[in-house]
Amino acid sequence: MNDLAGKHIVLGLTGGIACYKAAELCRALIKEGATVQVVMTEAAAQFITPVTMQALSNRPVYDSQWDAREGNNMAHINLSREADAILIAPCSADFMAKLLHGRADDLLSLMCLARPIDKVSLLVAPAMNREMWAHPATQRNLAQLQADGTTVFGVGTGEQACGETGDGRMLEPDELLQDVVAFFQPKVLAGQHVLVSAGPTYEAIDPVRGITNLSSGKMGFAIARAACEAGARVTLVAGPVSLPTPRGVERLDVRSASNMLEACVDIARAATVFIATAAVADWRPAASANHKIKKDGSGAAPQLAFVENADILATIARSPRAASGALYCVGFAAESHDLLAHATAKRERKGVPLLVGNIGPATFGQDENALMLVDAHGVRELPRNNKLALARQLVAEIATRLHAPAR
Ligand code: CTP
Repeated sequence: MNDLAGKHIVLGLTGGIACYKAAELCRALIKEGATVQVVMTEAAAQFITPVTMQALSNRPVYDSQWDAREGNNMAHINLSREADAILIAPCSADFMAKLLHGRADDLLSLMCLARPIDKVSLLVAPAMNREMWAHPATQRNLAQLQADGTTVFGVGTGEQACGETGDGRMLEPDELLQDVVAFFQPKVLAGQHVLVSAGPTYEAIDPVRGITNLSSGKMGFAIARAACEAGARVTLVAGPVSLPTPRGVERLDVRSASNMLEACVDIARAATVFIATAAVADWRPAASANHKIKKDGSGAAPQLAFVENADILATIARSPRAASGALYCVGFAAESHDLLAHATAKRERKGVPLLVGNIGPATFGQDENALMLVDAHGVRELPRNNKLALARQLVAEIATRLHAPAR
């Protein structure tokens, strides 16, 4: 995807071992469609050379406010006016302190101070030793920077270059990339708490066998990511899938439909939106054997009896909070044919304001999908696209309905 297409980012490097990660971050930003202008402090150049950063960004690196290449000799003005954001990665403890005080004695800090504050966002990825990070001065600076409108990304935890272990590592380049992409997404779900159910469920027959389905969880995970990018607090209740948790999303892993029901009902008590994408097993074995069911040599297959699982979506959609409008419920319908008719009927049956239909066999496990949105006003189709792009469109559609005067 080209999530940063059209964005121009000034990538500022300050002194720290994490400068080695900035090289990869620069590549990742460009691969995502951004143009990148690298600006380095004198200390940063002790850790990585401007040659490397020029080669990766395909632009000469700036490191001095006295750079005569600029006609007006005002690199701080020219470079900051072109940017959509200044991203400082790594940002040292010293540079944080400098930003906080509005000091401007080198090109990068000068640019941060001279940038039009409403147009050019300042994003900071701190990187330092754990004691420096935990120091009250740094924490105070962090709080003040945030109060001044700076977006400060978190720090990683783990082994540090100095040999100590703790908080303060710069986030990995792919994590920072996701955070930058998220930063530019419209915050249409700010203040909402979104619950997403995703993936298949697994209904045990015995300790080694069970019934499940082909849902990969990709659509639900993409929706969780998109909702988080849109500014919501997101809780993802996931059946057995092997997908990484989207950044910023709280995840709860469950196995059976009963586990999923319990988790969802609990979280739905405080959520404001419930998006049910999970492919919940309709039935479970009436009894799960404690030991592996063995062949008895007669050739006879075991007789399995099934009971119906509770409908999680319908249960939650019937709750008083959903009925009062405090919780907006969105269902999914995975069908094999007659999508519109089935989706329309399912919306009524589940009692939800919005039902999203898709063709199951065409989407399970795939990276692409096509969606059909059915609500009280009619039908809207979202044509085939990758699941994250569709998830963002769906989030925008949900936000519109949340903000409509009468739901
Ligand atoms: N769903 C649920 N709990 C269930 C079954 C389904 O929460 N026990 C939710 C799904 O997450 C989805 C919607 O209900 O949002 C529709 O799921 P689907 O499997 O398409 O429909 P079913 O209710 O199983 O209906 P049918 O088998 O007739 O297609």
